[in-house]
Amino acid sequence: MRLDCTVNGEQRQADDVWPGESLLYVLRERLGLPGAKNACEQGECGSCTVYLDGTAVCACLVAAGQAQGRSVVTVEGLSGDAGSLHPVQEAFVAAGAVQCGFCTPGLIVAVHDLLRRRGDGEPLTDPEIREALAGNLCRCTGYEKILEAVRTASRS
Ligand code: FES
Ligand code: FES
Repeated sequence: MRLDCTVNGEQRQADDVWPGESLLYVLRERLGLPGAKNACEQGECGSCTVYLDGTAVCACLVAAGQAQGRSVVTVEGLSGDAGSLHPVQEAFVAAGAVQCGFCTPGLIVAVHDLLRRRGDGEPLTDPEIREALAGNLCRCTGYEKILEAVRTASRS
């Protein structure tokens, strides 16, 4: 099939797509967007988190055919125009919340989604942050630096 969808605000097309291959595969291997990571391919780790029509999803669990005509935003699409970092990304760097970095793109999208859904409400509590990020696994950091980054991002 020919896949037509909007990715990070641009109309993109990919030919010879098998409708059952994953959106993650399409993004990484066909559209040259390696930000979303392929770690488990089973919906367990959150490393592949992207927005699909504004909802955060695991791209490894979305079939390419399901993305037809829809809007996808990847971690690459969260940066500023000149490639500047998003405040969530800056908070991760400042807190030292990136070690191997494999979980980081998925976490950035998940935290972006958390802050967006929260709006301008009260500061997030640690249990709220932990619950919201329960689907994003990190094998390196012990999560403390990640919590610190989210606290910082939620104040910016
Ligand atoms: S690669 Fe998609 S959830 Fe792990
Ligand atoms: S920084 Fe390595 S898995 Fe999270």
